[in-house]
Amino acid sequence: MTQDELKQATARAAIEYVPAGIIGVGTGSTANYFIDELAKIKGRIDGAVASSEATAQRLKSHGIPVLDLNSAGELAVYVDGADEITEHLHMIKGGGGALTREKIVAACSRKFVCIADGSKLVGMLGNFPLPVEVIPMAQSYVARELVKLGGQPVLRQGFTTDNGNIILDVHGLKIMNPVELETQINQITGVVTNGLFARRPADVLLLGTSEGVKTL
Ligand code: A5P
Repeated sequence: MTQDELKQATARAAIEYVPAGIIGVGTGSTANYFIDELAKIKGRIDGAVASSEATAQRLKSHGIPVLDLNSAGELAVYVDGADEITEHLHMIKGGGGALTREKIVAACSRKFVCIADGSKLVGMLGNFPLPVEVIPMAQSYVARELVKLGGQPVLRQGFTTDNGNIILDVHGLKIMNPVELETQINQITGVVTNGLFARRPADVLLLGTSEGVKTL
């Protein structure tokens, strides 16, 4: 099976976790497959809260109502992909740059269902550069602070987040304690948020493998 077929298989499996009402929907190629599957059962839900403008557009293109998080309240389920995930269900996210809105929607959801192909499962986070969303005027200061933490920050060229900010992708981190590092980076003035999802990890991982979709 190709990587795309594995992503699609996990997206199909995630439909079982969709309750009636309003759900949260993530961003990225795996989440896109999920949106396509969701379209087939759209009559069962009232609508979705999107974690990015791109996801909102795709939901709307399928005729799925996109709702504002502030009026939706607590969500039963959030479905999203990951760039890396461990067996403890700690993740690096934000390869698509939507990390802040993803973290907000995840925080408002009782259950986080992560959908990922097998290549995303790692023993230790950090091989994938850690995205950090930063207020533009704080770029140099935040970069210096990230170097002190042992990383090599690189500005994502030509990219602005949906919130009007920049992304620093931090290379070279060996993330032994993701909960601690997530907190440390978030405390740097000028950081909006970082792509470690450890304080609020996933609750379920649907992992696409050649032997089928495994549930962790
Ligand atoms: C978007 O900002 C990310 O957090 C994505 O969820 C993550 O990059 C996974 O993307 P793919 O499903 O495209 O691999």
